[in-house]
Amino acid sequence: MNYQKVLEEIQEEIQPYLKKGKVADYIPALANVKKNDFAMSIIDLDLNEYHVGSSQKEFSIQSISKVFTFTLALQNYSKELYKRVGHEPSGNAFNSLIQLEYENGIPRNPFINAGAVVTTDSLLSIYKETTFDYILQFIRSISDNKKITFDKDVYTSELKHGYRNLALVNMMKSFNNIENLTSSVIETYFKQCSIKMSTAELSKAMLFLANHGVNPINDEVLINEQKAKRINSLMLTCGHYDASGDFAYRVGLPGKSGVGGGIVAVVPKKLAICVYAPRLNKQGNSLAGTKALELFTSKTGLSIF
Ligand code: DON
Repeated sequence: MNYQKVLEEIQEEIQPYLKKGKVADYIPALANVKKNDFAMSIIDLDLNEYHVGSSQKEFSIQSISKVFTFTLALQNYSKELYKRVGHEPSGNAFNSLIQLEYENGIPRNPFINAGAVVTTDSLLSIYKETTFDYILQFIRSISDNKKITFDKDVYTSELKHGYRNLALVNMMKSFNNIENLTSSVIETYFKQCSIKMSTAELSKAMLFLANHGVNPINDEVLINEQKAKRINSLMLTCGHYDASGDFAYRVGLPGKSGVGGGIVAVVPKKLAICVYAPRLNKQGNSLAGTKALELFTSKTGLSIF
C-alpha cells in the first residue's frame, strides 16, 4: 500500500477540520501552539516511515504518556495492580471526580487521570526518586532518541493550575490508594505529561504494541504478548475517555489521545501511527486528529474490524 499517498490525501481532506475545536487552555502553557498545525506519521514493522506536515516538531504528549507508564507498571506488577485500578471504561470526563468518590478511590482504568496517577504511584513505590528518569529513559529507548525531554514551562504551568488533579490524588490518598507522598506523585505525573515528542518519534515509540510487545528495532521484549494485548484492549475501550465508543466506532483501532493534540494508534501486526492537530473536541481529544484517523482506516481498510 502507498502510505505516503494516503497521508497526502488525508492532509488535503483534513484542511477544513483544522479550524474546528479549541486548544486546551486549562493548562495555560498548552495554548502557546500554532492552532491549525497538522502532522501525521506512520511507521511499519519493517521500519519504513511515512510523514506529512510538521512531523518532526515536538509537542506536549500529555495523556499519551499514560500508555508508557502503564507499560512500565505491567512490567513490574500483574493482578495486584488491578486491585488499585480497574479495566472498565468510565463513561466520564478524563478528570472527573464523581465516580472516584462512590467507587472508593479505585479509578475505573489506567487512562483516566486518576488511574494514571495510581500507575505513576505504583512506579514511585519501586523506583523512588529515580522514577521520572526511568520513565524518560524508557521513552528515549523505545523511540530510539536520546534527546527526548520534558517541557519545563508546561510542567510548571500544570503544577500551578492542576487543582483538579490535586483533588484526585488527595481523594485517592484518603481511600489509601496512594502509597507515596501526594506531592511526589503529582509532580512525577505532571512531568511525564509534559514530555515533548513529534509524531515521528511517537509512532516509533508505539511500534512494540503493534508487535506483541517486542520492539522491532532491536527485538527487545518490552512486555509479554498477553500484557501487550491488554494495553491495546484498554486503549480501544478507554483511550479516549467518554469518547472511546465514538473513536472505536469511527476509527476502529486501539488509540490514545492527549490534550496536547496528539493521538497514537496501532494496527496490530502492521504499523503504528501518530497524528497531531491541537484543536480538541468537547471530550478533550484532537478533533481533526480523530477525523484523520477515521480517513486512514476508511481509505486503507486497516481497522481491526
Ligand atoms: O492531567 C491532565 O489533565 C493533563 N496533564 C493530561 C490530560 C489529557 O491529556 C487528557 N487527554 N486527552
